[in-house]
Amino acid sequence: MLGFGTVGEGTYRMLTDNADEIARKTGARGEVIKIGIKDASKPRTLPATMFTTDLEAVVRDPNIDVICELMGGESPAGEMVELALSLGKHVVTANKELIAKHGSRLITKARELELDLHFEAAVGGGIPVVQPLKHQLAGNDVIKLMGILNGTTNYILTQMEENGADFSDALAEAQAKGYAEADPTNDVDGFDTMYKISILAAIAFGKQVPLDKVHREGIRKVSASDMKYAKQFGYKIKLLGICEETADDQVLVRVHPTMIPLGHQIASVRDVYNAVWLHGDFVGDLMFSGRGAGAHPTASAVVGDLIDVMRNIIIGGSGSAIPYGTGLATTSISELETRYYLRFEVEDRPGTLGEITTAFGRRSVGLAAMEMRTKVGGKGEIAFLTHVCREANFLTALEEVSRLPCVAKVENYIRVEQ
Ligand code: HSE
Repeated sequence: MLGFGTVGEGTYRMLTDNADEIARKTGARGEVIKIGIKDASKPRTLPATMFTTDLEAVVRDPNIDVICELMGGESPAGEMVELALSLGKHVVTANKELIAKHGSRLITKARELELDLHFEAAVGGGIPVVQPLKHQLAGNDVIKLMGILNGTTNYILTQMEENGADFSDALAEAQAKGYAEADPTNDVDGFDTMYKISILAAIAFGKQVPLDKVHREGIRKVSASDMKYAKQFGYKIKLLGICEETADDQVLVRVHPTMIPLGHQIASVRDVYNAVWLHGDFVGDLMFSGRGAGAHPTASAVVGDLIDVMRNIIIGGSGSAIPYGTGLATTSISELETRYYLRFEVEDRPGTLGEITTAFGRRSVGLAAMEMRTKVGGKGEIAFLTHVCREANFLTALEEVSRLPCVAKVENYIRVEQ
């Protein structure tokens, strides 16, 4: 093993606590021979002889058949995975950043060398979704896939929705509970979700997604007010990673706060839970949900992958080798056609509503629903839902509306999924 943090320790515990169960199901007993760590000064729960800071020595150890990489980050994890494959060793990793950025090269290498490279734990923690997409669902043309892939942000949004908390208070609470890190950027600004949805898109569509082509927005702009209007319109606000087919051989991959109808399966996924929903041409609608983080759920995914490798070693084959090329053709979000929620602060005077609706009408943006209220100081607040329109059109119209003298401020806009 490389890495002995939360996931590493959880994996070790599962391998030892459930050793008989695993042996019964694989026909073999695996053994953790050595654990590579970065920081020798941290207190550990196993004898010091199990650990070394010489990561390369672990990878090169001739008694070791499988490298389980649980360090995270691009480097040195990437170099160690690459070396392990070069030495003919199977790899199991939970590293979403590594697979999202270098999956194509690493998987191609594993395939050429007839080795396993598994990464179930990289997406959705304990939820089995990578392997089902690679195997049972592989015959489907995946039309659309959406995921709540980050527990921290789902927890924050749930607190905002259910308790009326502001973003900053909900974030502070998530930090106090140990869900969000001191620097919450990776979670709240959507990077974690971007890595995970790009991995799912790559499996569903067979090619690695260039990360700079993924539209990414986090949840910092979502307010308690947006939550209240969403509820009035019949929606919940979730941070979703979404990938879908657009034109021939093109996909759109995006991460942003999204309004989901209350009746949609994914709207019911609350707190730290994750979910992946997809529509396949033969399987239809399908949703997986469960715990997306934490020592035990993530260990469950890692150990499932290790069991797959053990079985493959016993029969002398490898099973992970899916074709996984580069250069997936990705469409720009300006081509997206969807509905939008938007909220303005306005001057509360006769004619304001007419001026705004006329300006949207000039750009063919139809308005489908509206809520408004009077605020103090001669101001008002208006929230709209649009009909389906093209993102580029919507943004042009919004820019024009924002320049109207009656519009004090565009507070927010959020894309809506039907
Ligand atoms: N930080 C992630 C989350 C878990 O909040 O879901 C690790 O991927």
